[in-house]
Amino acid sequence: MKTTREKIEAFRKKRMDLIEGSGEKGAKKQHEKGKLTARERVRLFCNPDTWQELNLFAEHRAINFGMQGKDIPADGVITGVTTVDNKLVYIVSQDFTAAGGSVGETHAAKVCAVMDMALKSGAPVLMFNDSGGARIQEGVDSLNGYGSIFYRNTLLSGVVPQIAIISGPCAGGAAYSPALMDFIIMVRGTGQLYITGPQVIKEVTGEDISAESLGGADVNASISGNIHFIASSDEEAALIARKLLSFLPSNNLEEAPRYGDGTLTWSEDNYLNTIIPDDPREAYNMLDVIHHIVDNNDFLEVKAHFSPNIIVGFARINGDTVGIVANAPSAKAGVLDIDASDKGAEFIRFCNVFNIPIVTLVDVPGFLPGIEQEHRGIIRHGAKMLFSYASTTSPKITVVLRKAYGGAYLAMCSKSVGADRVAAWPTAEIAVMGAAGAANIIFRDDIKNAQDPKAEKKAKIEEYENQFSNPYQAASRGLVDAVIEPKDTRRYITLALISLKNKRDIRPQKKHGLIPM
Ligand code: HXC
Repeated sequence: MKTTREKIEAFRKKRMDLIEGSGEKGAKKQHEKGKLTARERVRLFCNPDTWQELNLFAEHRAINFGMQGKDIPADGVITGVTTVDNKLVYIVSQDFTAAGGSVGETHAAKVCAVMDMALKSGAPVLMFNDSGGARIQEGVDSLNGYGSIFYRNTLLSGVVPQIAIISGPCAGGAAYSPALMDFIIMVRGTGQLYITGPQVIKEVTGEDISAESLGGADVNASISGNIHFIASSDEEAALIARKLLSFLPSNNLEEAPRYGDGTLTWSEDNYLNTIIPDDPREAYNMLDVIHHIVDNNDFLEVKAHFSPNIIVGFARINGDTVGIVANAPSAKAGVLDIDASDKGAEFIRFCNVFNIPIVTLVDVPGFLPGIEQEHRGIIRHGAKMLFSYASTTSPKITVVLRKAYGGAYLAMCSKSVGADRVAAWPTAEIAVMGAAGAANIIFRDDIKNAQDPKAEKKAKIEEYENQFSNPYQAASRGLVDAVIEPKDTRRYITLALISLKNKRDIRPQKKHGLIPM
């Protein structure tokens, strides 16, 4: 019989073997591919003093296809909990060096167990994905495992933040767990995300494509819009995740962390008084406006590479987290198209479930006209913006900087779709459409029959501009609460946020609304 001492020694060895996993050989393979090991990823993300690992000793029980007795340390996934910047975070890190990080019954059960704990304790989940997908030898047990993860992704959705980091392959159904999470950070060069890989595509459609061109970080960020951030390394991905978490509450019943002591700080920002060009067709940099309004010029842009005509992201104003949604006149004149609507609506809904106030900065010429947009469904996509703003109950503050035309004016959080405060700069043009277009329609006959049609057109454009291309008609109807000088914008938003801190907005009971899909 073993002595207590021997039992402890044996335990130490067993534990060490599991922690070492595939050891130096496995680590070397990962490093050669430009990747960290699963454990290195956990370490760089979290504080080793507070790391508590769960289910280290879990083993698979598969027997088919050579699996009987096959050693897969920790069944290819490290799970546990830690505190990051004083916040509890549950972590999952797949170990590609152990059976390709493939997801079998036990691997999935470990992931599900931390998700269950995260739900019970109201803490975010962060998952490093680096896996060959469903463990082929385990057949339907593996599929069932994935299904159980998807089910929990959905249960956790809107309760605790979920962040996926794609640091290796993520193919097949495996792509759907990240897709069901709130944010995806992808490492350029090593992360791959697709439903069917190049080989299958070649067999089915005959198309030739490399894995990187099919589902690399750049493609997923700028073309498909599947991901939210690109990182250049695992280390940078962890930094982005930390930064993102710093803006977020741990769950939907908590408030976002507050920075600073609440002392009101603002100064007039005369630069903003000069930012709108005299020529209404001239662009300016909306990011510049955002940097001038938020604390410490610090803005975490989300989906920066996708549909740049709309900007979304997190910042703080007077220490409190806000979500910013803004049109970007420097990209497609800031028009709302299908992709911009999807991007905006997704972000607005995230802010709403976690009670984050939304600041909307408007300079929008309208929805993008065109056959392609109509046929692809701009109506149902654009409706997502209306639906998202109208169903949002967290505080909504809108500032109209320049153009706010037609349906797009409504879709950028007008008073009528539920803005709590609307301010407009003196340069605002809140109208059904731009003056030139409007004059061409309503004064068509006058212009046609005039002695000097060109001069008449100019006069009519001016007439329309004077009457409607300004903020005052909207202000006279109470659709704009205040016309403010641009330099006072930060002050206006800060006071509005304070006054809306305890906002209550009770809606009719229902299972859920039906957002156009
Ligand atoms: C079991 C797997 C595996 C898997 C990889 N491995 N994927 N084992 N099930 N799905 C094992 C390999 O056999 C190998 O084991 C080790 O992991 C490393 O794999 P390599 O192929 O040597 O690595 P690499 O060359 O880097 O290629 C990575 C890869 C490739 C591109 C991911 O492994 C691959 O194509 N794997 C299969 C991908 C796939 O078809 N998955 C199923 C998708 S279907 P040894 O012992 O040699 O080290 C799916 C359905 C889910 O996921 C549906 C949910 C709804």
